[in-house]
Amino acid sequence: MRVVRAIAELDVAPGSGLVPTMGALHDGHVALLRAARVENETVVMSLFVNPAQFDEQQDLAGYPRDEARDLEVAEREGVDVVFAPATEELYPSGFATWVDAGETGAEGAARPGHFRGVATVCLKLFNLIRPERAYFGQKDAQQVAVMRRLARDLNVPVEIRIVPTVRAADGLALSSRNARLSAEERDRALALPRALASASGAPDPVAAARASLNGLEPEYVEVLDLGDAKVLAAAIRVGSTRLIDNVLLEGEIR
Ligand code: PAJ
Repeated sequence: MRVVRAIAELDVAPGSGLVPTMGALHDGHVALLRAARVENETVVMSLFVNPAQFDEQQDLAGYPRDEARDLEVAEREGVDVVFAPATEELYPSGFATWVDAGETGAEGAARPGHFRGVATVCLKLFNLIRPERAYFGQKDAQQVAVMRRLARDLNVPVEIRIVPTVRAADGLALSSRNARLSAEERDRALALPRALASASGAPDPVAAARASLNGLEPEYVEVLDLGDAKVLAAAIRVGSTRLIDNVLLEGEIR
C-alpha cells in the first residue's frame, strides 16, 4: 500500500475505485472499502478532514483523528493507494473556486455551506484520481444525491455507487460522532433508527416517524429521492450530538 501526500506524486492510472473518507475509520467505511475491492483492480482511499465542509468550527476542532490506525485498517482491507494530503495541498493560498451544490433539502438547510464544501472537495478528488467508480454510504443520503447530481450536471465520468448503512448491534447507524454519546444519550438516540424502521411501511411515513419519535424533536423528517431509490431520512440532536439516519422506502440501493 502506497501513502501519497503530494498531488505531484499521485500517479494513479485512471479507472480505479475511489473511497473518499475523513478518517476515523469504522465498519461503515470498511464496507465501502470492501465493495470497492470487489469491483476494481486498483482501490484508492482518500483520507482528508475537509475544513470546507464543517459548518460548526468546534465540530472541526473536535473531529477524531488517528491516522496510524486508519492506515492499518486500509492496509488490512487491501487498499492500494491512500491519498492523505495536507490542507494546503488541496486549498493552497489563493483558492477561490467553489462548486454550488444547488438545492440540498432539509439537511443542506440545517448545515449552510456543508454541501458546497463536500461537492468541491469531491470534484477535486475526481479530477485528481479519475476513478471509474466512487463509493458513498447510504447513511449520508443527501450526500449521495448531491454526488449523483454533480456527476451528471458537470459531466464527470464516474459511477457513483451506494453502499447500504452499517449499523451497531443495537440498530444505531455507525458514525464517528457516536463516540460522543453518553450511555444514557445513546439509549435515547436509538429512538431514531426505531422510528424510521417502524415508519417505513406506513401510508404516510413522515408523519409515522414523527409520531413514533416520542419526545425527541427531529430537526427534520423527509423523503429523499436518490434516483434508483427513495429513502425516509431524519436528523435529531441528542445532547450536543447531531445524528442523521435513513431507511429505504422503495427501489434499490446500488
Ligand atoms: P466520512 O464521514 O468519513 O464518511 C466517508 C464515507 O463513509 C461516506 O460516504 C459515508 O456515507 C460513509 N459512511 C459513514 N458511516 C457509514 C455507515 N454507518 N454505513 C455505511 N457507510 C457509512 O462523508 C464524508 O466522510 C465526507 O463528506 C467526504 C465524502 C469524505 C468528503 O469530504
